[in-house]
Amino acid sequence: DGAKVYAANCSSCHGASGAGVPGAFPPLAGNTAITGDSKYISDVLLYGLQGKIVARGQPYNGVMPAWAAQLNDAQIAAVATHVRSTWGNKGSAVSAATVKIERSTPKTVVQILKERPQ
Ligand code: HEM
Repeated sequence: DGAKVYAANCSSCHGASGAGVPGAFPPLAGNTAITGDSKYISDVLLYGLQGKIVARGQPYNGVMPAWAAQLNDAQIAAVATHVRSTWGNKGSAVSAATVKIERSTPKTVVQILKERPQ
């Protein structure tokens, strides 16, 4: 399930409680950028993210790895749903169907940064 995918692949950078590391890895807990349109988080997970962002008032300019080769649509949907609904986050579930659509239409780094809610 999503919690297991998170523990195995994400918690090393974003932390077991989603707090991240200020200046290095953005927090997922309380981060409203990740609980909007489910296309954004699907694209970040499939294709990664790099470039300047501000999360919970703190700037980041790092490299988030892509997971398209390691995780299938159901696993990406599960971990996205997990981080959108844990640690007080109130985002809706992400479906494997949404991830499948996003996988079929690859996005560039610039496009993904533009999708990010400001
Ligand atoms: C960004 C989730 C694994 C490093 C993000 C964002 C999400 C996310 C949703 C966007 C945050 C925002 O827009 O505010 C996840 C999940 C993971 C995972 C669910 C496991 C599948 C990792 C790992 C690393 C990492 C293993 C470190 C090697 C980063 C960095 C950013 C980021 C540096 C910010 C990129 C930038 O500054 O542009 N992550 N992440 N992530 N993640 Fe991850």
